[in-house]
Amino acid sequence: MGGMSRSVGIVGASGFIGSAVAEEASSKGWRVVGFSRRDRAPGGSIAEWRRWSDAVDLSGLDAVVNLAGEPIDRRWTDAVREKLRSSRIGVTETLVEAMAGSAPEVFVNGSAVGIYGDRGDERLTEEAPAGAGFLADLCRDWEAAAERVPAGVRVAKVRTGIVLGAGGAAWAKMERVFRLGMGGRFGDGRQWMPWIHIADLAGGIVHALDTAEVSGAFNGVAPEPQRNADFTRRLAEAMNRPAVFHAPAWALKLGLGEFADALLASQRVVPGVLLKSGYRFRYPELGAALDDLL
Ligand SMILES: NC(=O)c1ccc[n+]([C@@H]2O[C@H](COP(=O)([O-])OP(=O)(O)OC[C@H]3O[C@@H](n4cnc5c(N)ncnc54)[C@H](OP(=O)(O)O)[C@@H]3O)[C@@H](O)[C@H]2O)c1
Repeated sequence: MGGMSRSVGIVGASGFIGSAVAEEASSKGWRVVGFSRRDRAPGGSIAEWRRWSDAVDLSGLDAVVNLAGEPIDRRWTDAVREKLRSSRIGVTETLVEAMAGSAPEVFVNGSAVGIYGDRGDERLTEEAPAGAGFLADLCRDWEAAAERVPAGVRVAKVRTGIVLGAGGAAWAKMERVFRLGMGGRFGDGRQWMPWIHIADLAGGIVHALDTAEVSGAFNGVAPEPQRNADFTRRLAEAMNRPAVFHAPAWALKLGLGEFADALLASQRVVPGVLLKSGYRFRYPELGAALDDLL
């Protein structure tokens, strides 16, 4: 490519994870093209915006990253389920179709630890088989759609965990509730939570762009998942607040329907591929991550 900087297109660049990836990629020398369903003015880490709807213009891009998706943290009515699927699988299909005309070298597509389902104390590397449930099926179909790229495109699918960072929906809720001294465990608290600091998720995704051996699924989680009760205790301690409340499984199910299963699922996920391919975590353990965020 001569000395010219390489270009990465980011779908969902206006979002929490997408904007962090834009910043990280830009700092590593990538020229960033953001994609949005709305008009936006370039600025900051985004050199150019392309508006898209049913079709998407991938011309001139060396890499494409897809981090689009409707928010998942609500009651999954039939209408919501359809939106959750189409904004992920449908968007991936649109991108893959566009690659028939202009193929990038590498495609990083979103996925989630939800693919593993509820797995008790089993250590889950990328080799573990998929689990069961609505989210597992959604993620499996989402990953399969990404695999249909034209021959020669390297595909990496980031199985994202619970992302901790300012601007993230999960973190915003936890921070608010714990600040009020109303934090507490979910269910019996024994379920494993695969958390990751936003800096490492963005770092890991840009590492995947730059590292040829990252191919196929990779877990976007920190090396030390925590049981929900331990995570809860450490968050409360870091905030100097009590965490005496607890949300019983039946109450979560009553309030949230099947989405409660996602909060109660045990997922002891570890970042096998990121570690093996030489990614160095900035926040490998929870204490340092919480100190940074608080
Ligand atoms: N945050 C987490 O903890 C977490 C964990 C696991 C997986 N993930 C996955 O990572 C992805 C990004 O998450 P996020 O937290 O960054 O979400 P976010 O802040 O809500 O951003 C999502 C982006 O997706 C685009 N989008 C939303 N609905 C769309 C639709 N119907 N069609 C096309 N584009 C749509 C939006 O872009 P425009 O409005 O500009 O078009 C938006 O900027 C999601 O797929 C999510 O499931 C997130």
